Amino acid sequence: MALRNIVKEGDDILLKKCRPVEKFDEKLHGLLDDMGETLYESGGVGLAGPQVGIMRRVCIIDVGDGLIEFINPRIIKAEGKHQVVEGCLSSPGEFGIVERPVKVTAVAFDRDGNEFEVEGEDLFAQAMCHEFDHLDGVLFKSKVIRMLSPDELAHDDEE
Ligand code: NI
Repeated sequence: MALRNIVKEGDDILLKKCRPVEKFDEKLHGLLDDMGETLYESGGVGLAGPQVGIMRRVCIIDVGDGLIEFINPRIIKAEGKHQVVEGCLSSPGEFGIVERPVKVTAVAFDRDGNEFEVEGEDLFAQAMCHEFDHLDGVLFKSKVIRMLSPDELAHDDEE
């Protein structure tokens, strides 16, 4: 396994749509292993292919309940709406308020090509929306209602 460099906002690669994964092979497994290591090193909750320069529909999420790998994911149901604070490993130190579904149901494939369905609420639902957006070249800042000011960020740290 190896750490991969995280592509930062400003690189056009983050604005491009990814192609589906077609081969569930060792190369994919190596990519997923590297992405997992990179995610844990970064302290984030999710990481998508384009953020490590790979234009395939792959992302990973761990909101504290274990790592889930999503290949070719799609949302089949979204319920509720709320405003939440969001950030991105490609925009370090920046946070804004976005509107996201409260509950999301998605289908995807695992690293061996088995399809699965997963339901998530709150942070997990938000993370799925955020990471799946990356696969379509959409960054959270394009959806942001309002960016948090440095004062608000400092206040958040105290809580
Ligand atoms: Ni992101």
